[in-house]
Amino acid sequence: MFQGLVDFLVFLILSAYYIIESIIINLIPRHYRAGWRETLRGEIALVTGGGNGIGRTLCSKLSRLGATVVIWDINSQGAEDTAAMLRQEGGKAHSYKCDISNNDDVYATAKKVRQEVGKVTILVNNAGIVSGKTLLETPDAMIKKTFDVNILAHFWTTKAFLPDMIAGDNGHIVTIASLAGLVGVNKLVDYSASKFAAVGFDEALRLELEVEGKRGVSTTVVCPYYVSTGMFEGVKSRLFPILEPDYVADEIVTAIRSRDKVLLLPSYLRIFLALKFLLPWKMLFLIGDTLLKTTKSMDEFKGRNSNNATTGKSKQK
Ligand SMILES: NC(=O)c1ccc[n+]([C@@H]2O[C@H](COP(=O)([O-])OP(=O)(O)OC[C@H]3O[C@@H](n4cnc5c(N)ncnc54)[C@H](O)[C@@H]3O)[C@@H](O)[C@H]2O)c1
Repeated sequence: MFQGLVDFLVFLILSAYYIIESIIINLIPRHYRAGWRETLRGEIALVTGGGNGIGRTLCSKLSRLGATVVIWDINSQGAEDTAAMLRQEGGKAHSYKCDISNNDDVYATAKKVRQEVGKVTILVNNAGIVSGKTLLETPDAMIKKTFDVNILAHFWTTKAFLPDMIAGDNGHIVTIASLAGLVGVNKLVDYSASKFAAVGFDEALRLELEVEGKRGVSTTVVCPYYVSTGMFEGVKSRLFPILEPDYVADEIVTAIRSRDKVLLLPSYLRIFLALKFLLPWKMLFLIGDTLLKTTKSMDEFKGRNSNNATTGKSKQK
């Protein structure tokens, strides 16, 4: 009885402390918080899908902050082009061809990276693919591939690099999910489901690390709205502007430096997310269908040729 009361008091005091701490931290602009970690010198950052789009821009920003960057992509030319760009800017970069949907390839390439570059301390699970069809139009093989790349690969890469992060008490695992990992999107059933899984992966992993007392390893999940990389070529957005890769990459780097747990882009979308759990489904549908037109955003979707991601011929920016 007495112990129960003590536990409850400790709980109340800690809760009050955490709430005040969170308010104070959130009052400090993120860019100032990021400044506490001025450079990423000494870090080895690995970005999957670094051969194009958000991944390539992110590699460049990590490199400018002093990190040694390792680029993985199924498209070896894209990965090498990124590495060459970074080296030209004076950075240290290494490119590897790796099909992250193949766990043997992930473990073998991870071993090579450890021998040739060193222990990875920042892992960005960024590579992703989209089919963009209705559920009944999507071939089984494409659905499986989407899950292989967009979520199962996160298990293989994390299993490959997490032990060194834990041993060194220093690591950061970044999951590039999507806003479609928080709200379902028409014609993105497989993609949305894989991104919901990615959001769950990050949250459960963070909890597991915390329960096990592995405080040196942080995790961040990133949920952006549409970004103009070509992946979602043709999508229409009525109210919210389509984001620029440069802005998204900047925000991801800031989140890494300030060890933010969740990065929603643009951040004001959290208001709509809160409404998701408050409003009736019919009203939510009305908002999406008439106000935001999100139900039709994929109608003119062209995307990249979905085969490109598996043949390694994805368009270079
Ligand atoms: N573009 C958007 O609108 C948008 C919005 C929200 C989230 N995202 C997410 O951001 C991430 C990056 O998207 P992007 O727009 O830069 O895409 P992108 O198509 O420009 O780049 C993806 C990269 O991943 C690589 N890749 C694909 N399959 C691979 C595999 N099996 N193994 C290794 N590499 C592979 C591709 O070759 C390509 O270089 C993805 O996870 C995507 O789902 C994108």
